[in-house]
Amino acid sequence: MDMTGQEEYPAKIGIIICSTRTPRVCPQITQFVLDTIQSTKHQDTTIPTPDIIDLAEWNLPLFDESSIPSQIKDPSQYDHDHTRAWSTEITRYHAFIFVVPQYNWGYPAVIKNAIDYLYHEWSGKPAFVVSYGGHGGGKCNRQLREVLRGVRMEIIERNVELAFPGRSVLERAAKGEDIGLANGSGSGGKLGFWEDERRGIVDAYRELLQVLSGPV
Ligand SMILES: Cc1cc2nc3c(=O)[nH]c(=O)nc-3n(C[C@H](O)[C@H](O)[C@H](O)COP(=O)(O)O)c2cc1C
Repeated sequence: MDMTGQEEYPAKIGIIICSTRTPRVCPQITQFVLDTIQSTKHQDTTIPTPDIIDLAEWNLPLFDESSIPSQIKDPSQYDHDHTRAWSTEITRYHAFIFVVPQYNWGYPAVIKNAIDYLYHEWSGKPAFVVSYGGHGGGKCNRQLREVLRGVRMEIIERNVELAFPGRSVLERAAKGEDIGLANGSGSGGKLGFWEDERRGIVDAYRELLQVLSGPV
């Protein structure tokens, strides 16, 4: 397989957990996005289920390569084993969903670090961003999309911004407590307070798959 991973089918989608602190809420929100995508499977069983890529498990050091990744032609040219392993991981996927909190009007440093390690492994692959925060993390969402365009990813039109419904949920999120998104935890078996946001997630995912399959 080459560094773009393009010839491997069926499509493999990676969903990246973009916060790494302890405690954190990002895994719950990532699971909500996955449950939402899974819930469409009864309509279309061919829809692929994304695999989770948790940056906390990767625990990459601060960027420490001697070359500019866009000039790397083969992973053997990387200095470090951790870069080669990260390269292999990202090469496996054809498209990505980034689930990311807003930190101080931007995105967490850990996702910029993870992006900067590579270039060709990201290039040409479609992606969308699911941000969250008090007001949906719109500033972080815009900034991250700009960076992803910088590594020549194909950012789809739709993006998803999930706003915490109030101060108390934001505080529970900050403490990594259960914010009530698990399957059936909302009234009537719904997925909690973001029930109305699920349509947007499904539409974004369908658009991602459409871009991936190319013009018809
Ligand atoms: C360093 C830091 C900065 C934050 N800045 C913002 C912000 O700019 N806007 C916002 O809505 N929430 C902000 N928050 C609150 C986060 O939305 C909330 O803590 C959330 O749980 C963070 O996701 P995580 O738990 O996965 O790290 C910030 C949280 C942290 C830790």
